[in-house]
Amino acid sequence: MLTRRQFAIGSVAMTSAGIIGRRIVEAGVTHFNTPLPVPRLVDAAKQGNAVSLKIAAGRHAFVHGKPATTYGYSAPILGPVIRMRRGDEIEMTVENALDTVTTVHWHGLLVPGDCDGGPQQLIRPGDRWRPILKIDQPAATLWFHPHPHHDTGRQIYMGLTGMIIVDDGTDARLGLPRTFGIDDLPLILQDRSFSADGSIEYETDGLSIVYGARGGTVIVNGVVAPLAKVPPGLVRLRLLNAANAQNFVLRFSDQRTFYVIASDGGFLPAPVAATELTISPGERFEVLVDFANGAVALETGPDEEMGIFGRLAPDGSAEYVPVMRFETTTKPLVKEMPTRLVELSAASQASAVRRRQFIVSSGICMNRTQAGEHTDMVALTGINGQTFDMERIDVETKLGTNEVWEVVSAGMAHPFHIHGASFRILSIAGAPPPSHLAGWKDVVLVEDRAELLVSFNQPATRDHPFMYHCHILEHEEAGLMGQYVCV
Ligand code: C2O
Ligand code: CU
Repeated sequence: MLTRRQFAIGSVAMTSAGIIGRRIVEAGVTHFNTPLPVPRLVDAAKQGNAVSLKIAAGRHAFVHGKPATTYGYSAPILGPVIRMRRGDEIEMTVENALDTVTTVHWHGLLVPGDCDGGPQQLIRPGDRWRPILKIDQPAATLWFHPHPHHDTGRQIYMGLTGMIIVDDGTDARLGLPRTFGIDDLPLILQDRSFSADGSIEYETDGLSIVYGARGGTVIVNGVVAPLAKVPPGLVRLRLLNAANAQNFVLRFSDQRTFYVIASDGGFLPAPVAATELTISPGERFEVLVDFANGAVALETGPDEEMGIFGRLAPDGSAEYVPVMRFETTTKPLVKEMPTRLVELSAASQASAVRRRQFIVSSGICMNRTQAGEHTDMVALTGINGQTFDMERIDVETKLGTNEVWEVVSAGMAHPFHIHGASFRILSIAGAPPPSHLAGWKDVVLVEDRAELLVSFNQPATRDHPFMYHCHILEHEEAGLMGQYVCV
């Protein structure tokens, strides 16, 4: 039987030449002289906790001199970083100025189902949506993006992504880098494919349904190959993988050690030293990097889960490619790393009231696993043998309880995400999670299987259920999604 990697590489051999050919063209733009754009910071408390977003099309040049049509939240592309304080109530006003229907999902925010912005909560062109968001969760880096069924992948690819920072006072208490745009930097990582005229090319052919939509060019905060000037001390990077499908395997060009301080749902108990970090679609990590030694590049390695499709090197090899550069200014702001961060309760199976299993498959892979070979290319994309149905509630949970969810990936790795809840990883591929995955999460890349201890603390009814799905957006849209209520 073929291993996963052999299979992935073998099955696409006939198309690889074309793909590599296009990447050579795309990679010609890496000069690292575009200053890193820092999204506008909207500090909700400073404007009476009322925040407005206007969703509209805009123009943005990824390739110099070739502006493309993009989408953004009150910006030509991407959107602001919204800072929200724990304990506050934010009145959001979201206006849809697109000519198509959308929704706004607050990914990672723990709010009731009717504020969550899932596929049921459509905002029609010209309409406004005004949810009230009660912020009651630990400090974390979250994000927002569209979720209209069958158009999520395209709308995010066109530029609809924003970040949320929840602040609960921990930053100041621990003396962490927190000067936004200086030593506290949002880095929104994505990949894109462009046409010869510089426009965004969102492909939905058969292969991108299998592997998700990918592009040969990495963009950070909406630009290709940016340069950031940072103080020569500790800098906090808020990493968000907002790609449709690509896993980024991040390291610095000098392979320096950096420290992971937070995952999706908040701080870890202590900084975790790392030289390489995999971040899958939907995931966030906050890292502290010491720039005392001067200039360095951030690189990404091949996404080996996807065989040749996951490679970004212009020659199609497994080399790491630089995605952005850092140079230093003169004065460090923060030099000292805290040794302890927050208290985290032990994650214990014993607190779970029940156990469920979710077998996730994107067609082709499930078939291969079941039959031991890939004879039939057409198979179901879904969970537990069922493809997504907005009319069907798949799971009923009880408010205030914990459950163990065992997620099994049949075939390739899937980044599994749950709305309206945070979880702790009990085991991953049969082993306890590595330290940087042992804190609060809402996405986990499941290559084999993972057991999650999920805390259900937000209500959701049949009219506005919560979703769980693969965050490879083309898998989600092909039906790798389910819904749960919590009452
Ligand atoms: Cu980023 Cu259904 O979510
Ligand atoms: Cu998937």
